[in-house]
Amino acid sequence: MTETFNPQLLTGKVAFVAGASSGINLRIAQRYAAAGAKVMVISRSEEKIAAAAASVSDDAIGMACDVRDYAKVAEALAHCHDRFGEIDIVLSGAAGNFLSPALGMSANAFKTVVDIDLLGTFNVLHASFQHLRKPGASLVSITAGQAVRPMMYQIHACAAKAGVNQVTKCLAMEWGPAGVRVNAVSPGPIGDTEGMARLAPNEDFVKSSKARIPLRDWGTKDDIADACLWLASDASRYVTGAIINVDGGSELGDAGGDALNPPKR
Ligand code: COA
Repeated sequence: MTETFNPQLLTGKVAFVAGASSGINLRIAQRYAAAGAKVMVISRSEEKIAAAAASVSDDAIGMACDVRDYAKVAEALAHCHDRFGEIDIVLSGAAGNFLSPALGMSANAFKTVVDIDLLGTFNVLHASFQHLRKPGASLVSITAGQAVRPMMYQIHACAAKAGVNQVTKCLAMEWGPAGVRVNAVSPGPIGDTEGMARLAPNEDFVKSSKARIPLRDWGTKDDIADACLWLASDASRYVTGAIINVDGGSELGDAGGDALNPPKR
């Protein structure tokens, strides 16, 4: 893990991170701990969760827990509260995905991704409310560009992430009066992830993808962790209901070409 930005913004705070056995969410949990928070991580994977917790910090705790199971999520949050005290930060990042045309998936396949991404986010945020520090808690969900941009072979993820954006905004309205902020981060293409490694078949693909992004590069897990650190901290105390794109400008559209050195016409 590279320390791109690591002030002790979260000293004395308690963070609960869902979907954190690997990848972006694990990096976020590590960033929260490095910034001074006590951290609990949950993930569906029995095998990976203990090692994930150990990689976060010496006193981080981990529990195997499927976000689709409300009772289990509630148990995990209660455990976090008992162990560390009132929860200041909840990061909801558990997600499942695969590429498939709509006609190639069953109703159960569609439901599975909606259940993990959307119902799972509702479960984590909803069950957290009674354990939150009020006022002061910050809830952050991981969404995706599919929430606002339809995409081939992604009908399930598009529907689920659109729901995550609306859950974020509805809870921001309902829980703002209690001093609870609710935001989401929408990562663009993140290069150092297993998912992107699978999607990028060769160097030509990588080059042409980067050439269409305004900032001309893919992001890193640290870019997402830094945005989630800011949203979790009091540095963003007046921000709620926001969907923060951390995507090099990808959401704006295709930025291919060279407007700074345009061809002579
Ligand atoms: N194409 C079409 N349908 C698929 C599929 C694919 N590539 N992969 C799974 N499905 C269907 C299954 O056939 C099943 O439907 P059925 O009961 O009608 O046959 C349904 O999806 C559920 O699959 P199952 O494997 O039982 O679900 P799961 O809860 O064990 O796994 C997934 C969840 C499907 C999201 C799985 O892809 C997964 O665990 N992925 C790893 C995590 C991940 O996706 N990470 C990326 C985060 S962005």
